[in-house]
Amino acid sequence: MENKHRIKSLVYNRILLKISGEAMMGDKSYGIDPSTVDFMAKEIKEAISTGVQIAIVIGGGNIFRGVEASVKGMERASADYMGMLATVINALALQNSLEKNDIPTRVQSAIEMKELTEPYIRRKAIRHLEKGRTVIFAAGTGNPYFTTDTAAALRAMEIGADVILKATKVDGIYSSDPVKDPTAKKYNTVTYIDVLKRGLSIMDSTAVSLCMDNNLPIVVFNLRGNGNIKRIIKGKKIGTLVRGNNGARVKKKYH
Ligand code: GTP
Repeated sequence: MENKHRIKSLVYNRILLKISGEAMMGDKSYGIDPSTVDFMAKEIKEAISTGVQIAIVIGGGNIFRGVEASVKGMERASADYMGMLATVINALALQNSLEKNDIPTRVQSAIEMKELTEPYIRRKAIRHLEKGRTVIFAAGTGNPYFTTDTAAALRAMEIGADVILKATKVDGIYSSDPVKDPTAKKYNTVTYIDVLKRGLSIMDSTAVSLCMDNNLPIVVFNLRGNGNIKRIIKGKKIGTLVRGNNGARVKKKYH
């Protein structure tokens, strides 16, 4: 499958947006805040108006945190499966908001539940993107012990995304926690190795390693900033770019 989708004014033509489950709660402490999800949908819509193709991986921490449950004594694999189910709930909520905003969306789940979503089929996902549909990948990788950040890295590679946009509550990666330390410095660029060595906790190490091995850039940015996704894909320096030492962008490997 050869992809000819290239828009000259865009730095990134196909992106994988990673949204945490927690981002779905807005200022609540649990669950889904409809106005927050609607805001996200509008941000995505604005980005799509440029012609960019968007795939999304969503977490489930607003509903169930597998790791926390396993620390409290639940078997890790069971806890992780429950977390994967939580991501399906979030995916359906986000699909609903996107479609209310006239963005055709398909949800594909790594764990088959065909009454609710399509199963994950890589080539079909790419075809959806080519047809201008947003694709949400639910249920992580379908395996326990892997986070949704790792699912984002894996899916990004599989669909030939140019970048992972990792949405967070802060506007990038800092030398220390900016909430606690007023002298914390924001980085414009860091290397994968720096993230791993210094334990800059933007993504777990499996996800970062996967990106490093495949030279897939990550942009860590604040989803609450108006128009940030659109600005990033147009090449504005928003947030922090994580990349290799040589600064090379991901080599195009279209399918
Ligand atoms: P094209 O093949 O490009 O026409 O894509 P399409 O997604 O519009 O066509 P399709 O006939 O495959 O799907 C129509 C609708 O059914 C879409 O909303 C799909 O998401 C949904 N759909 C397709 N396969 C499944 C499935 O296995 N389970 C569920 N629940 N929905 C599905």
